[in-house]
Amino acid sequence: MNIDQIKKEFPIFDNKVQNNDLVYLDSANSSQKPRIVIDRIYDFYSKEFSNVGRSVHYLAVAATNLYEQTRTSVQKYINASDKNEIVFTKGATEAINLVANTFGQKYLDEGDEVLITELEHHSNYVPWHFLRKSKKINIEFAEVNDQGEVTLEEIKKKITDRTKIICVTHLSNVTGAILPIKEIVNFAHSKGIPVLVDGCQGAPHLKLDMQDLDCDFYAISGHKMYGPTGIGVLYAKKKWLEDLPPYQGGGGMIREVKKKGISYGELPNKYEAGTMATAQVIAFNESIKFLEKIGIENIEKHEKELLDYAVELLGKNNSVNIIGNPKNKGGVISFTIEGIHPHDIATILDEDGVAIRAGHHCCQILHEKLGLPATARASFGVYNTIDDIDQLNKSINNCKKIFNLK
Ligand code: ALA
Repeated sequence: MNIDQIKKEFPIFDNKVQNNDLVYLDSANSSQKPRIVIDRIYDFYSKEFSNVGRSVHYLAVAATNLYEQTRTSVQKYINASDKNEIVFTKGATEAINLVANTFGQKYLDEGDEVLITELEHHSNYVPWHFLRKSKKINIEFAEVNDQGEVTLEEIKKKITDRTKIICVTHLSNVTGAILPIKEIVNFAHSKGIPVLVDGCQGAPHLKLDMQDLDCDFYAISGHKMYGPTGIGVLYAKKKWLEDLPPYQGGGGMIREVKKKGISYGELPNKYEAGTMATAQVIAFNESIKFLEKIGIENIEKHEKELLDYAVELLGKNNSVNIIGNPKNKGGVISFTIEGIHPHDIATILDEDGVAIRAGHHCCQILHEKLGLPATARASFGVYNTIDDIDQLNKSINNCKKIFNLK
């Protein structure tokens, strides 16, 4: 892989940030965008714009075809068995809310349990918490171990005869742990329990195969996959999409509306109410093409090299404490430096053009468990280089110097 060449495809790197070359280490938060994605949005609005799925004029039909082409691309990219198993949402958060709301309505009653993990992002906890309030369900937490992982054994321990759904992250946005999804799904299914996977951090970095993983639901965030904001995907097995009620009501999702009753549209329209994020969906196709052109296996390999290098380098840096040491880990390193608040670390690194995130990363349950209010986090994307990691380490050393640390 020629990273210099790949980097040139991202206009953000053409400019200095505060007079520095940008060292962007915040891709777990949101990735930067390649030119083809940015241009596609401009071109669509300039030359091809129409709403989709409604009018019969030329632009409307052409835009609808483009919109549906993205659905097919996503289907192929994640190897779903049917294109109608791909529902566009405004993000992974909405995808999880859709499942919590509709599955909760139909299948959860007082005393039922939803099993999540201590690694979950708020977007895979809060939607279930709503049901704790409205339906008096219970939420159980599979615990994170000292390596920052959640094991299959731990999940098995927490399943009871009241467990109605298991909701787990694919790749932790804090410790980088990659969970054994296939094994979790196998075991859950042997007990008749469906599994929802928060794939926000999985989809941009790991090869996905829905038919092989066999999960029931998989939530994807477009803006972390080099795509636009405002676009996500819910993959759901067709049997669920047919079975569950609609999430939102409005135009586009109905078959027939009468004063006395309403029938709903075919899949996937049933779940796509109102005018969708048309330009973003169409531009998202370019992100998929971008990922396919490089090859997800190559991206995985590249990010693993960066990760191994960074873990070794930061591991040797006195007073840097890396959070977790999972056996199977993606390109995320959260760390603390004793005596320096993570927000100070991030602010000082930023002066060198090194963009990291500091805070709880929307994972307060995990941070509470770690006994830390916040951590600093460097996360990688396809455009990062070994030089970026060296600069990260150099800036951490500057930071330590300011605080008189060795
Ligand atoms: N989930 C995103 C992050 O981890 C926002 O930064």
